[in-house]
Amino acid sequence: MSWDTELYEARHNFVWKMGEGVVELLAPRAGERILDLGCGPGQLTQKISESGAEVVGVDSSPSMIGQARQNFPKLRFILQDAASMTFENEFDAVFSNAALHWMLDPVAVVSAVSKALKPGGRFVAEMGGKGNIQTIVSAIHEVVKKYHPLPPSRQYYPSVSEYTSILESHGLEVRTAQLFDRPTPLEGDAGMENWLKQFKLYYFEGLPPTALQEVISLLRPKLHKPSGWLADYRRLRFIAVKL
Ligand code: BEZ
Repeated sequence: MSWDTELYEARHNFVWKMGEGVVELLAPRAGERILDLGCGPGQLTQKISESGAEVVGVDSSPSMIGQARQNFPKLRFILQDAASMTFENEFDAVFSNAALHWMLDPVAVVSAVSKALKPGGRFVAEMGGKGNIQTIVSAIHEVVKKYHPLPPSRQYYPSVSEYTSILESHGLEVRTAQLFDRPTPLEGDAGMENWLKQFKLYYFEGLPPTALQEVISLLRPKLHKPSGWLADYRRLRFIAVKL
């Protein structure tokens, strides 16, 4: 997927603002070596580095890595697909916020994470979990299937048992795992339109512009509240330790 990093940083900065709680859960310490998996434009990589830890940001998107290097030139960022990482016993912790749901081969990703960790190292992450953005996805499907067959999903929202089984089968002991609703405000009256254009544009390629407006009209009575748009995010958050 190619990313419009300008729209991402201007309108969807909640991704890293809301991810700060996951950095607290990571509790990075000075001197630790930490891998930030799916680092995007690097704001949380920077936040982690403020602890004095040595952080490496990894992302498979050239535009995100380009933006991260421009934002934080003193930090190290690597353009790399998580599933094919070859780090071995090098990290005290692997951190990931709002990225694992873009990685469609979770077994390969968890296997690479487990190899990258030192024994006793921790994997601390938050991602979209089962039922994430269900209202939005249903509305998109309702409209798009009138025009052409639905494209395969580009995201993966596992249940607690699904993801923790993968973690456990790769030598990672699950200490906590939690699935919870996290309604997410989208900025301004164009909040849902911006969100759809940033994250779901591939559904609308080749369709008349009215298709996107149709989806927004279906969503308005459900997700537009007196305070503005609220996306129906649901998070899966976990801590697992390498045995
Ligand atoms: C998420 O963080 O859950 C998400 C982000 C973009 C599109 C869909 C879901």
